[in-house]
Amino acid sequence: MKIVYFSVTGQTRRFIKKLNLNDTYEIDPIDPEFEVGEPFVLVVPTYEKEITEPVTDFLYFSTNREMLQGVAGTGNRNFAELFIFTAKDLAAEFNVPLLYAFEFNGTSKDVTNFEKAVKELGA
Ligand SMILES: Cc1cc2nc3c(=O)[nH]c(=O)nc-3n(C[C@H](O)[C@H](O)[C@H](O)COP(=O)(O)O)c2cc1C
Repeated sequence: MKIVYFSVTGQTRRFIKKLNLNDTYEIDPIDPEFEVGEPFVLVVPTYEKEITEPVTDFLYFSTNREMLQGVAGTGNRNFAELFIFTAKDLAAEFNVPLLYAFEFNGTSKDVTNFEKAVKELGA
């Protein structure tokens, strides 16, 4: 399964590096119009909509929203009820499961749990 992600301060990117995968794609905030062309899981940090707008633009581009299989979110639990709201909102908007939530760049346990959640999607 391809993993697509967005990162503003580098935490999500650090998490993705820990997965040791070749098949990843980082959404470009300047030019989000990239067609993935295969099923993928999205990993997103949590920020106000203005900041995560490239992710929405990316998802609405071409066939991307049809290929989206699930969303995982990274955030900070100090934000309480706003914890990973970006991932939650995107999962609801695009009608796909919220697969996993973690803080910052994730622990080794988060890596294992995320990999398991992706595997359970069956692709
Ligand atoms: C300005 C700002 C606002 C944030 N707002 C939230 C929030 O509402 N909810 C949340 O769970 N995390 C929030 N975070 C935490 C980030 O989403 C979290 O640190 C994430 O791991 C950052 O990923 P990135 O470095 O890949 O951008 C916020 C961080 C910053 C700097």
